[in-house]
Amino acid sequence: MPIDLRSDTVTRPTAAMRDAISRAEVGDDVFGEDPTVLALEAEAAKLTGKEAALFVTSGTMGNQLAIAVHTQPGDEVIVGEGAHPVFYEAGASPALSGVQFAVAGVGGFFDAEQMEERIQPRAYWAPRSSLVCVENTHNRSGGRVFPQADAIAIGARAKELGIAAHLDGARIWNASTSTGLAVSDLAAPFDTASICFSKGLGAPVGSALCGTRAHVERARVFRKRWGGGMRQAGILAAGALFALEHHRERLREDHYKAKRFAEKMSAALGASVDLTRVETNIVNVDLDAPLTGEKVAKAAAALGLAINASGPRRLRAVMHLDVTQEEAERAADLLAEAIAAAQKA
Ligand SMILES: Cc1ncc(COP(=O)(O)O)c(C=O)c1O
Repeated sequence: MPIDLRSDTVTRPTAAMRDAISRAEVGDDVFGEDPTVLALEAEAAKLTGKEAALFVTSGTMGNQLAIAVHTQPGDEVIVGEGAHPVFYEAGASPALSGVQFAVAGVGGFFDAEQMEERIQPRAYWAPRSSLVCVENTHNRSGGRVFPQADAIAIGARAKELGIAAHLDGARIWNASTSTGLAVSDLAAPFDTASICFSKGLGAPVGSALCGTRAHVERARVFRKRWGGGMRQAGILAAGALFALEHHRERLREDHYKAKRFAEKMSAALGASVDLTRVETNIVNVDLDAPLTGEKVAKAAAALGLAINASGPRRLRAVMHLDVTQEEAERAADLLAEAIAAAQKA
């Protein structure tokens, strides 16, 4: 088995999680009768400090439901650079909700002023700026934490301007672990928050969209319309509940593994890592020209390390439940070896 650092989504359920899944009480969730889904939704709402939550298939669906709930076709959504819905959601926002994006700030981060610079004038020929989205932690920037003071200022200013605010909190657990702030505090500036159970938490499937009861009831209609109404979904919700109870504390181990991996890689020839930007479980490794991410990833695969190129000269390593600290350190050795091999080839 290769060491797999492509994503924290590659984890497999543990024996204890599978046991919890096998014992799950279930019902028909489209009829609102699955007790395990209802328990998970109640827990997700409590953790994010919101009125209600909706269990959904994926982080993509959570984000897209939020966009559908907060916008009308022809509207504009303000996001940071590299936002997940722009890069990795198969064009869902224009396809499903008929919206376009405006990018604020750099590297995924922006403040209230930079948001305001991107707000369209209220004129009939301009698209309506109806939603701002913040991603925390920010995937493409290497799992960095969105500054909470900016999140608060963005949420407050958006409210004054009548713009909705959504948090893409796929890895909000990592942000909470890194900052020591409660998930409910991190979600407080936002009207809605999508959270994922199938990344660092290690559940096999599922996310939740959290917000007011009205947001959730509106999202429930879109979820059904898009084919996301699931029946005995308690089988999946049980994995998520187990992950919330047993896998949150251990996220600090993933952050430690990322630090160790980054430290070793920062000493490797042909690559560099900005150690000040390693805040959670993701490490961006930048390669010296003329090395390419694709070429080094291929050389790494031949040595038993699975790692993804996330840019022409960038690799992204993600730590998770299924990689030990020894494997994380070994991965850095293998990657250094792969870089040397790619340089010679
Ligand atoms: C920041 C962010 N948002 C949303 C998602 C989408 O999650 P999913 O793969 O479950 O659709 C991801 C997935 O990696 C992500 O990194």
